[in-house]
Amino acid sequence: MPLQILPLPRSEFEQYYNVCWTAFVPGIMDMMWPDGRSKEDIEYSVAGMRRTDERYPGRMHCFKVIDTDLPDTDPFDKVVGVSHWKIFPHERSEEELQKEKELSDKDDELYPDPPGYNKTAMEDFGACTKAYKDKYIGRRPYMLLQVIGTRDGHQRRGVGAISMKWGTEKADELGLPLYLEATAKGEGLYRKWGFQEVDVLPFDARKHGYPDPLTHLIMLRPPQQNAKP
Ligand SMILES: CC(C)(COP(=O)(O)OP(=O)(O)OC[C@H]1O[C@@H](n2cnc3c(N)ncnc32)[C@H](O)[C@@H]1OP(=O)(O)O)[C@@H](O)C(=O)NCCC(=O)NCCS
Repeated sequence: MPLQILPLPRSEFEQYYNVCWTAFVPGIMDMMWPDGRSKEDIEYSVAGMRRTDERYPGRMHCFKVIDTDLPDTDPFDKVVGVSHWKIFPHERSEEELQKEKELSDKDDELYPDPPGYNKTAMEDFGACTKAYKDKYIGRRPYMLLQVIGTRDGHQRRGVGAISMKWGTEKADELGLPLYLEATAKGEGLYRKWGFQEVDVLPFDARKHGYPDPLTHLIMLRPPQQNAKP
């Protein structure tokens, strides 16, 4: 089997964004960076992800799926898919949530968005996703599928399923519900892995001049039988 899932170390976060760019364009990535990405834009994204990983040890779990049959000259170092999960194993207090918000606001001051970043659209998207996480999860323990993407040209051969297997097994081991915001392309895969639609995110990318609404479904998967009590 040439497909293997491996942890994605911090030193390779740039590769994560490169794969996401091929998976989410057209989509959220070119809404976020309408004029394309510069070297500075990539550094900005990678630095933000590293900060989160350093600040909250054990929360972020990033993976790459590699295809060992690809040649050594492959421009993505044989990475054909990525996934990014977050685990919140305990109920969080209002104080903890407030502290996180303060740190995030401080980051916004210290690390301003690069000029090509569509801040208005992303703030709207972020406000919608936050409101729906508050509605369906609140402060309860849960696991989040933040991002899953398979490189263009490698989709529909089981790359995404390899990451879904890791995530659903981990959620069941921990007895946690899994939450995600699904694109139309991901919906079928998520249903196969036990997710159910609970709502539609009220975000419409056309308000920001994007040609497609980029509709996202809110999907939840309860922990399954083999979950620990
Ligand atoms: C959504 C996404 C991650 C799925 O990744 P993937 O690697 O294509 O996932 P899989 O191959 O495991 O499964 C996808 C589909 O291919 C089918 N499939 C899997 N192996 C297959 C094979 N060998 N032959 C034909 N179909 C196959 C699966 O049954 C599934 O079908 P479905 O969508 O009708 O349910 C990928 O399409 C992607 O990156 N899309 C763009 C970005 C995006 O929208 N990401 C989701 C964010 S929520």
